[in-house]
Amino acid sequence: MKVFIDTANIDEIKRAAELGLLDGVTTNPTLLSREKGNFRDNLKSICEIVDGPVSAEVTALDADNMVLQAEDLSRIHKNIVIKIPSTRDGLIATKQLKGKGIRVNMTLCFSPLQALLAAKAGATFISPFVGRLDDVSHVGMEVVEQIIQIYENYGYETEVLVASVRNPLHVVEAALMGADIVTMPFKVIEQIVKHPLTDVGIKKFLADWEKVKKD
Ligand code: G3P
Repeated sequence: MKVFIDTANIDEIKRAAELGLLDGVTTNPTLLSREKGNFRDNLKSICEIVDGPVSAEVTALDADNMVLQAEDLSRIHKNIVIKIPSTRDGLIATKQLKGKGIRVNMTLCFSPLQALLAAKAGATFISPFVGRLDDVSHVGMEVVEQIIQIYENYGYETEVLVASVRNPLHVVEAALMGADIVTMPFKVIEQIVKHPLTDVGIKKFLADWEKVKKD
């Protein structure tokens, strides 16, 4: 399973990258709004740190302007992948961008049928938002399971990128289901790196080591 980080914060990206687990980065307008500096410079810096797909989202709502924005964003760096919302115009733009060789991550996906359409339009990635589904009492991971099944049934190559991850359980379930990618906020990466029983075990071993005769 590939691991992406869901942030535009350079420090968090560097700290995750040094763990050797980062395969890519996802950003969105909200995440970019939290950072200082020009968003283009930030995206370029991110691409220089992580040698993998870096998602940057369009803000246009109509297909023609989505394509124009996508072309502009993709000039920032070869690692840039364009995030396009799962709408009617998003599908039109995705199909056109596929024809131009620009990779698309269809975002704000909340149903297996949106994912089916994204695959047919030629999206490279589909991003089901599991946390936001959980927030409205719909089990987000069930949608991921359905998308994986549909893609397997028909051999679609679109990669399932589990997004809006809120806790380590989402990550375990995604891995068990065989999702291609999970994008995690830095907080969840920290949670999965650390286990309290590992820390307790180290403390006990160090205490016992003090009692061992060394000469
Ligand atoms: O990758 C999508 C993600 O940024 C959305 O997460 O926590 O805002 O639902 P969240």
